Amino acid sequence: MFALWLQISTTASTALTTTVTTSTSTTTTSATSTTTTTTATTETTTTSSMIIYTESFINSVTPSSQCTAWATFCNLLVTQSYMSLTMKGSTSSTGITLTNSTLVIAIANALHTNASYGPVSSDGYSWAVGICGSSGSNSYELTATGTVCSCTTGYTVRPCIGNQNWGGINGTTCGSASQTITVIFQ
Ligand SMILES: *[C@@H]1O[C@H](CO)[C@@H](O)[C@H](O)[C@H]1NC(C)=O
Ligand SMILES: *[C@@H]1O[C@H](CO)[C@@H](O)[C@H](O)[C@H]1NC(C)=O
Ligand SMILES: *[C@@H]1O[C@H](CO)[C@@H](O)[C@H](O)[C@H]1NC(C)=O
Repeated sequence: MFALWLQISTTASTALTTTVTTSTSTTTTSATSTTTTTTATTETTTTSSMIIYTESFINSVTPSSQCTAWATFCNLLVTQSYMSLTMKGSTSSTGITLTNSTLVIAIANALHTNASYGPVSSDGYSWAVGICGSSGSNSYELTATGTVCSCTTGYTVRPCIGNQNWGGINGTTCGSASQTITVIFQ
């Protein structure tokens, strides 16, 4: 119950609010007079602000467009009050979530600025950002295994590695079976 409440609360605090005003006019005509009544209805819709990376990776195939998409995603991770980071995919629809906002913001900043960070422990995992790949100083991976650029089993995404060891979700992170990997900041 507490965890559920926390989830709703964090989502709401990064929310964008859209206000839509709709006007309805009703015209009543009688034999003696015409009366027009206008009713304004204000509807507020709350949309959660999410920055999502989701790409398909193929066993034994070096990612290419997935690396370009990773660079685009990292560029979107501007400093803002992120409340959570989730790593999931086709092999685990639930995945794992880092809920310490301070750490989520620091990880977003590392990915955005092409910098190493961590490892830091929270929510049962050890999170880190670091270099791993052939694209030199811009080949950053995100891992929850505690070890950058290693084949440790767990949760890792390294789209710019330049070889077939692009990571994996809740399993081997080198030479993994084909799967979709999703990373969400919100
Ligand atoms: C990860 O895999 C293990 C073993 O296959 C499974 O028990 C566990 O529920 C999975 N965790 C998630 C978050 O999917
Ligand atoms: C979040 O992480 C920071 C840095 O490790 C720590 O100081 C803080 O206590 C953590 N907050 C929570 C709520 O665990
Ligand atoms: C980080 O690396 C990416 C990929 O090469 C690049 O597009 C981006 O401009 C770099 N960002 C910074 C802040 O250097």
